[in-house]
Amino acid sequence: METLIKKLAEAWGPSGFEHQVRDLIREEVAPLADAITVDPLGNLICRVGDGDARVMVAAHMDELGVIVSHIDRQGYARFASLGTLLPGTLLGARVRFENGVIANIGVENQYTRRRDLPTFDGFFIDISQDADGSAPVQVGDPGAFVREVVWRGERVVGKALDDRLGCAVQIEAMRRLKDQGTPHTVYFVFTVQEEVGSRGARPAGYGVEPHLAIAVDVSPAGDVPKPKDAGISLGGGAVIKVRDTRHIVPAPVKNLMIRRAEERGIPYQLEVMTLGSTDGAEIQLARSGVPTGAVGIPARYVHTQSETADRRDIQAAIDLLVAILSEPVEL
Ligand code: ZN
Ligand code: CO
Repeated sequence: METLIKKLAEAWGPSGFEHQVRDLIREEVAPLADAITVDPLGNLICRVGDGDARVMVAAHMDELGVIVSHIDRQGYARFASLGTLLPGTLLGARVRFENGVIANIGVENQYTRRRDLPTFDGFFIDISQDADGSAPVQVGDPGAFVREVVWRGERVVGKALDDRLGCAVQIEAMRRLKDQGTPHTVYFVFTVQEEVGSRGARPAGYGVEPHLAIAVDVSPAGDVPKPKDAGISLGGGAVIKVRDTRHIVPAPVKNLMIRRAEERGIPYQLEVMTLGSTDGAEIQLARSGVPTGAVGIPARYVHTQSETADRRDIQAAIDLLVAILSEPVEL
């Protein structure tokens, strides 16, 4: 699992440009799925089993990134964001473009504007090279952050753990179902464009037409100095979502998830999130509506390049997902 997480989180795949991650995941799931398709938006859809009830599980492949908006007169690349970038994470960060070019992000008036760094304008990407002056990137080129994944005891630190951890959880759940089977038709979906507003999830939900859906994503942990929401802790177990800004989990779905966790002694924590949402918010709106829940993996520093999570929570999320997918669903 460590190797898988490292491989997925270090992969390149800003929103709208997920093809490299999708290829990696497709390789992993090829021996685990009964059928694999890619829909028109780029969602990777993997079917396992052929039971009566269709259950959709979704984790997003995309990560935060930048896209070059113009090259300024001095030759610096100016950019727009792909997803919700936090300005405080930009200065000194490195981005990689698809052609392999790696460059640093700088900010105008670096030494005097520390106080207003929380504003977004003024940042640029230094794509300067030696002599000939030709820019190595062009308007419209997407970039993703560069950061190595490291483990510190039970903790994993890296960029794009949101939501490559979710992708890893789904792959590991597929591996377990491969051995033990499932009474359902399970669709493991690896979605595109979550970070720009879950644009892949709803069409995927429309295509799959599930009876039950579960999104798998990170949940911001509140066990840090001066937290906004103090509910979720690293090491506290898998997160069962109750509510976020765009999603109220139907009580029968929430209760099913709690029941499965308790039956199998899987540690869990309940989440009421006051910032952000997941693919679940869009899947629940597909067609005439889908009962949808979400499993979270607690993570600190979400949307920075050093998101931090705990192995035990990742394991608990896998166990919970497998528990839900192994038994008949009564809602
Ligand atoms: Zn996410
Ligand atoms: Co995110």
